[in-house]
Amino acid sequence: MKILEVNLPQKKYSILIEKGILNNIGKEIRKIYKNKKIAIITDSNVEGLYGEKIIEILNKYDFQTKTIVIEPGEKSKSLHSAEEIYEELLDFEITRGDMIIAFGGGVVGDLAGFVASTLLRGIPFIQIPTSLLAQIDSSVGGKVAVNLPRGKNLVGSFYHPEAVFIDPDLLKTLDKRFLYDGMAEVIKYGCIRDKELFERLMTIENEEELSNNMEEIILKCCTVKRDIVQRDEKDNGERMLLNFGHTIGHGVEKSFGYKTYTHGEGVAIGMYNITRRSVEMNITKDKTSDLIKRILIKYNLPCEMPDIEKEEIINAVKLDKKNKGDRMNIVLLKEIGNAFIKNIDRKDVKLYI
Ligand SMILES: NC(=O)c1ccc[n+]([C@@H]2O[C@H](COP(=O)([O-])OP(=O)(O)OC[C@H]3O[C@@H](n4cnc5c(N)ncnc54)[C@H](O)[C@@H]3O)[C@@H](O)[C@H]2O)c1
Repeated sequence: MKILEVNLPQKKYSILIEKGILNNIGKEIRKIYKNKKIAIITDSNVEGLYGEKIIEILNKYDFQTKTIVIEPGEKSKSLHSAEEIYEELLDFEITRGDMIIAFGGGVVGDLAGFVASTLLRGIPFIQIPTSLLAQIDSSVGGKVAVNLPRGKNLVGSFYHPEAVFIDPDLLKTLDKRFLYDGMAEVIKYGCIRDKELFERLMTIENEEELSNNMEEIILKCCTVKRDIVQRDEKDNGERMLLNFGHTIGHGVEKSFGYKTYTHGEGVAIGMYNITRRSVEMNITKDKTSDLIKRILIKYNLPCEMPDIEKEEIINAVKLDKKNKGDRMNIVLLKEIGNAFIKNIDRKDVKLYI
């Protein structure tokens, strides 16, 4: 088992990574939680695959469980779903001494975490992430949120779990498109902070080898994110590095109405294109964008900018909620493994697309 400690001024907890850890989840949770009631929030895909199993394992340790199931997909990350979940939790007579488990991908993690952070002014919760994106990104760092019709993640807070249990075996049932979607973020960690990870990913030959090395890969990604979050928990500086490729990526996703490109695919296009431009401007070491292109192709991810008006992407990027006045921050690489933040005039963004 690989254990990563998260040390923040207000909260300390562990991230435990092990193939098959779900089989021991009752024992692991007993170590950190002495009461009886546990509400499991999950989506219907994960419930169908692992719902019975998790209940069976928890019941052996004398927990009193209730499962709350949401529809899979981004649409469920809403205030409406949160309200329905509050009602079910109150029917279960949950108190601040009880526990919530977020058992699913990033949608479940963000929504269940948001519910846990707000109901009764805060109920402890545990993350058991089941998608690759959730295992390397959304379950780490304490950001929880729901969407509003006018934009993603607009209502939320920073609320950390009591523990994160990561079982890479769960990825075996994940649809391939979601697996590669998550790989875009894995590659991002290599680009911004971990050259060794990037090089290791380059040598992996097939899906079996990828699966065999998943525990190590997840550990490396969570370590990069944990280190950045420990230095900048509230996202005022360094945490922005995690947005490498995201500015253009969001622009691409948005220009296609969030229908054509997944989040990871948008990020892949963003990482390659911004680096291609920064190499041309001599900001980034020569050949870095070629390396990014090779790794993206290897993991079935797109890299070329789709055939749409550049203006459309520039406009989408300019509207990004992270912009402040006439200035905006973009993330560039000096070379693989070394990213930095550059503050630019908003009108100059076209130079980087
Ligand atoms: N909080 C953060 O810091 C943070 C960071 C990045 C992304 N996010 C959020 O994460 C969300 C995206 O997460 P996601 O990509 O995991 O999407 P998701 O939760 O919708 O999961 C993707 C799909 O995979 C299915 N699934 C999950 N685990 C499975 C398994 N083991 N086997 C079979 N199917 C499985 C789900 O049912 C769903 O259909 C977005 O809402 C995004 O905003 C949050």
